Amino acid sequence: MCGIVGYIGSQQAVPLLTEGLTRLEHRGYDSAGLAVLGTTGLKVAKRAGRVRDLSEALPKRFAGKVGVGHTRWATHGPANDVNAHPHTDAKGLVAVVHNGIIDNAAALRQRLSDEGVELASDTDSEVVAHLVARSEADTLEGKVSDALSAVEGTYGLAVLHVDFPDRLVVARNGSPLIVGVGEREMYVASDLAAIVRHTTTVAHLDDGEIATVTASGFTTYRLDLTRTARDATTLDIDPAEYDAGEHESFMRKEMHEQPHAAERVLRGRLDERFGTAHLGGLNMDARETRAIRRVKILGCGSAYYVGQMGAALLEELARIPADAEAASEFRYRNPIIEPDTLYVAVSQSGETIDTLLAVQEVRRKGGRVIGLVNVVGSAIARECDGGIYLHAGPEVAVASTKALTNMFLGFALLALQLGRVRDLSIADGRRLIAGLQRLPEQIEQVLAQEDQLAELAGRLAGAESLFFVGRVRGFPVAREGAQKFKEISYRHAEAYQTSELKHGPLALISPEVPTVAIVPDDELAERNVAALHEIAARRGPLVVLTHEGVDLGGLPDGAAERVVVPRNERELDPILLVVPLQLLAYHAALALGHDIDKPRNLAKSVTVE
Ligand code: AGP
Repeated sequence: MCGIVGYIGSQQAVPLLTEGLTRLEHRGYDSAGLAVLGTTGLKVAKRAGRVRDLSEALPKRFAGKVGVGHTRWATHGPANDVNAHPHTDAKGLVAVVHNGIIDNAAALRQRLSDEGVELASDTDSEVVAHLVARSEADTLEGKVSDALSAVEGTYGLAVLHVDFPDRLVVARNGSPLIVGVGEREMYVASDLAAIVRHTTTVAHLDDGEIATVTASGFTTYRLDLTRTARDATTLDIDPAEYDAGEHESFMRKEMHEQPHAAERVLRGRLDERFGTAHLGGLNMDARETRAIRRVKILGCGSAYYVGQMGAALLEELARIPADAEAASEFRYRNPIIEPDTLYVAVSQSGETIDTLLAVQEVRRKGGRVIGLVNVVGSAIARECDGGIYLHAGPEVAVASTKALTNMFLGFALLALQLGRVRDLSIADGRRLIAGLQRLPEQIEQVLAQEDQLAELAGRLAGAESLFFVGRVRGFPVAREGAQKFKEISYRHAEAYQTSELKHGPLALISPEVPTVAIVPDDELAERNVAALHEIAARRGPLVVLTHEGVDLGGLPDGAAERVVVPRNERELDPILLVVPLQLLAYHAALALGHDIDKPRNLAKSVTVE
């Protein structure tokens, strides 16, 4: 949520910063801004709208070789030009870009205005610019340290000051901040995506760290300005992974990357000999694994829904009671943390603040948490006692696809390992391994049905309101399908248990309200089909995601469109039913002409509560 990029070196900063902001835009796209230090001092340009609007509106001679940029997702105050970052002090000496939330902003704003400072914006972030400007420290890092000693909350921030044109100072507490090392030039960013084309040699700041960055290097400190030892490391990353390539959107690229991403999360983790999985990163031996009596999964949005799929896998394969809960609600009900419960935090970004706070709540009470996380070294990954990296590669589209698929596979691996130290037989273990090995190719087969799904999506896009229904294993699939659909098509898509329709929502079924039904070939198929008849009898249009051979029981002609997905093992079928729902959502949004990668009101990583 919000993106930061900064540059200091011998090149003109503006093109580099603008490019960096464009690559960060998925993190927030309400407004954008730049500040540069040039020969005539500090210049700031900012405005509501997209980065391209900002670029088109930059004043002439807006130049400098030191600068910072920001792309915003509004928290405090509406998305307008004044609330956009960078924020400055009254004299225009200091410019600050900030990600995160300053919890005591109201008190600091009051204190500053009591001292005669006129605040220009509605934001929490502006206070930092005034606090830095008012500090009497004689170094910029000293001024930033002074300012931050008054601040409570989370931040990743970057500061420019006209009196210190040879440096920028950055700080981190709860919002990621990296320093990138170039050839006699340096970068800072909240996300590697912003700078990966220029350098892959980076240092990740820790919470509570400040860094002074000059064109020739960087120095890190704790908040009290005692030095810390932090080296940059060169990451083995292909910058092309951060481009959409020939695809018209990142979401489409990421959906089509799923077969390869799935291979990566499974690679080296399957043990056919013993019919189990090897997850060294859990940091638990067989005895500790056996001692687990319950599993509680914590995630938000799609990560929560895939957590429900994971809970079903754990119960079926390992016979351990498991459930998933929205991490955003968890800590507010003063949860009971039990020593023999394994807590599992699931997150693509590893930054989602609700999930991070839930992890901290568990750990504060002495519980053990493992993470299923995509972004290596992210806050949640670092906070957990162990975990499984998802290896999905960078995910840029706001709507999560390949990371979600790999989360499901991560849960399958976990369930296999936990199951095999309990009652799951070696034969069943091998059966599931064979199923997992078939999945990448089967995902490919589903993706090959894109034309059929696009045609169906075009029709669904015309409906103002839709149902997505499923039962037991199929219900979280329906929830994820509805989530994806509403997220990018802006249509009202409601997920329901198929069995619950007749207890109320059936009243809404009509020719104008289509239902997408999940009907796998499992023990509930007959009951699911009975519900389809109830919908068809009320002339509700139906799209049925099912397997070859499922008898839809003679639904009237034209009552239902059937989408057939390949069959795997029953426990693993849910993920093959999720993929067509991604394509449905994608093509509905495309038909409606929406910005697929940057849906309205949303942002990729939700770092505010
Ligand atoms: C997914 O399509 C959504 N954009 C959203 O629900 C997301 O899954 C959620 O915010 C959690 O994000 P995380 O996986 O990065 O923690």
